[in-house]
Amino acid sequence: MLHLTLRQLKVFDAVARHLSYSRAAEALYLTQPAVSMQIKQLEESAGVPLFEQIGKKIYLTEAGEEFQQYCRNILQQLNDAEAMFSDLKGMSGKLSICVASTASYFTPQLLAEFCKRHPKAKVSLNVTNRETLLQRLAHNEMDMAIMGRPPEGFDLDATPFMENRLAIIAPVNHPLATTGNIPLSRLSEETFLVREQGSGTRIAMERFFADQGIKLTTGTEMSTNEAIKQAVQAGMGLGILSMHTVQLELEMHRLIVLDVQSFPILRRWYAVHRQGKRLGNVAQAFKDFLLAEASDLIGEIG
Ligand code: PGA
Repeated sequence: MLHLTLRQLKVFDAVARHLSYSRAAEALYLTQPAVSMQIKQLEESAGVPLFEQIGKKIYLTEAGEEFQQYCRNILQQLNDAEAMFSDLKGMSGKLSICVASTASYFTPQLLAEFCKRHPKAKVSLNVTNRETLLQRLAHNEMDMAIMGRPPEGFDLDATPFMENRLAIIAPVNHPLATTGNIPLSRLSEETFLVREQGSGTRIAMERFFADQGIKLTTGTEMSTNEAIKQAVQAGMGLGILSMHTVQLELEMHRLIVLDVQSFPILRRWYAVHRQGKRLGNVAQAFKDFLLAEASDLIGEIG
C-alpha cells in the first residue's frame, strides 16, 4: 500500500500549483529544502518521478498530473469532513471582521470559501483604513482584523499569513514602460499619487523612500486605491499600490508595473485581534483557515 502523509499531499499540491519549489515553500511557510525533501520521499513511495526539471522550470510528469487529481480529491474530501464536524459542533456563531481597504481586494474570495464550508456562520465585513482599524481594535469592536503589521505597544496578537507586494504602477504608454532595472534615483523626476495619511500603503511607501534617502514629488492625495488607479490611467502620475489591487487592470493591459530596482516592496498581511481575546468557534476557525490556506487560495501575486 502507498505510504504517504497528509503533509506530503499538501506540499505536493502546493508545488504542483505553483510549479516552483521556492514559491511553494513561501506559501507554506517552509524552507525550500524541507519542500524538496517531502517531494523526494513522496516520489520514493510512489516509485515514479512526479516532477521533472527542464532548464530552470519544473513540470508535472504524466504520473504527477494524474496524481494531482487524486490529491485534490483527497484534500477536498478532508475539507468536506471539516465542514461536517463544524456543522456538528454548531459552527453557527457570528464573525465580525474589519479589513484594511487594500485587503478588501482578496478578503471576499476568502470569505466565500470559508462560508461555503461553514454555511451557518454569519459573517460581517467592514472595510476601512489602517488608522481607523487600530482605533476599532482598541475599542474591541470586532473579532478580528486583516491588516499590515500593526505597530508595537498596542496589546495586539498579530500573525502573518500572506505576502503583500507593493509595486510602481504606470499608464501603459509611460516612457519607462519598456525600460528594465530602472534606478530608484530616476523616480525623483516623476510625480506620485499617494494614498491618504493613515493608510498602510502610504506608511510603507514613505518609510521605504526615507530609508533609501530619496525624495519623491507627491501629487494629489487620494483616499482609495481605485481613485489612484483611475488617475494613473488618466496620466496624472505614477502610483505605488499593492499588487492585490491591480490584477484586473494588468490583465486588461490598462496599467503596467514598472521594473524599478529594489521593487516590489515586501509587506505581509496579518490576522490581528486583541491580546487575550477569547475567539469564538467561528472566529478561531477563520483564523486557522487564514493561516493554513489564504496564501494558496489567493495565489502568489506580483
Ligand atoms: P491600506 O493597507 O493602505 O489600505 O491601509 C493596509 C496595509 O498595507 O497595511
